[in-house]
Amino acid sequence: MEKTEVDDDINELFETLPQERNWDGRWLCQYKGFWCPVRCFRPIVSSERHFDARDTDILLASMPKSGTTWLKALVFSIINRNNYSIDQTPLLTSNPHALVPFLEFNVYWGNDNPDLDTIPNPRIFSTHMPYELLPNTILESKCRAVYICRNPLDQFISHRHFLIENKIEKDAEPLDIDEAFEMFCKGIHPFGPFWDHMMGYWHSSLNNSRKVLFLKYEDLKEDIVFSVKKIAEFIGFHLSEEEEKQGLIEQISRLCSFENLKNLEVNKLGKNRVIQNSSYFRKGEVGDWTNYLSPSMAERIEELMQMKLRGSGAIS
Ligand code: A3P
Repeated sequence: MEKTEVDDDINELFETLPQERNWDGRWLCQYKGFWCPVRCFRPIVSSERHFDARDTDILLASMPKSGTTWLKALVFSIINRNNYSIDQTPLLTSNPHALVPFLEFNVYWGNDNPDLDTIPNPRIFSTHMPYELLPNTILESKCRAVYICRNPLDQFISHRHFLIENKIEKDAEPLDIDEAFEMFCKGIHPFGPFWDHMMGYWHSSLNNSRKVLFLKYEDLKEDIVFSVKKIAEFIGFHLSEEEEKQGLIEQISRLCSFENLKNLEVNKLGKNRVIQNSSYFRKGEVGDWTNYLSPSMAERIEELMQMKLRGSGAIS
């Protein structure tokens, strides 16, 4: 954190937190049990303090590299289907992250208390924050959250590629894959531990199924039509029989497909601050981890997940 910012209680709080270097060289701080990137600690605390949720808000939550971009494209399309036709949608010229801002990377970045009152309903925000760090007003209001999670091995590999490709700390050398994996197993990675992140949303989806919809990337890959209907229903934008007959679900699914989004000019050449849009679209496959991790590494994660999630019903 910049020295110039060390002048209020957020920075005093920051000074008390344990810190670790992530495998890409950037710093993480442990806040309420989760490893948050240092650069978004201030936005996280600011959003905790100031975000005023509306009942109509929709929050898209995820671990990084779990299908956030896909979910943003789908929810934006479902909600705006009467505002834009499929061939006129802003998704054709804007990256999904430019249409649905992150609370911690965009909305509260560099502004402790932005004015969000003028944004029309329904506002869509996204976050990588764990459930435990969400602003109270989100938990207390009737706003809904859609959480997407992914096989931890694929998430780890996807994240590793993303961080190396978008290397921001010029002087930092990324750790080799074994060391990075070791840190992942200890839960030290952005917004980790993975299992705690996942379990926060899993339990809340069980306790209040109107509040949180828990999705898996792999299920979307398997049956996107079913998933689009489920998401639409949950966020209160039910697709009518008439719309189904017109093939709207298939149209939205095709529009938001990996192949379609990846090949749009904005996603091939555009940039979102320091991030290349193209790095949000790598392979989009299930099981790519097998190309990078050994069976014993997979076993270790499997054992960890069994130990942490046993009996929860979150994994079969
Ligand atoms: P891979 O790196 O395994 O290819 P996030 O959006 O949370 O940053 O996650 C990025 C991951 O989702 C990347 O995985 C990316 O390729 C994949 N992805 C992005 N858009 C997708 C889409 N429309 N359909 C399926 N996967 C997508």
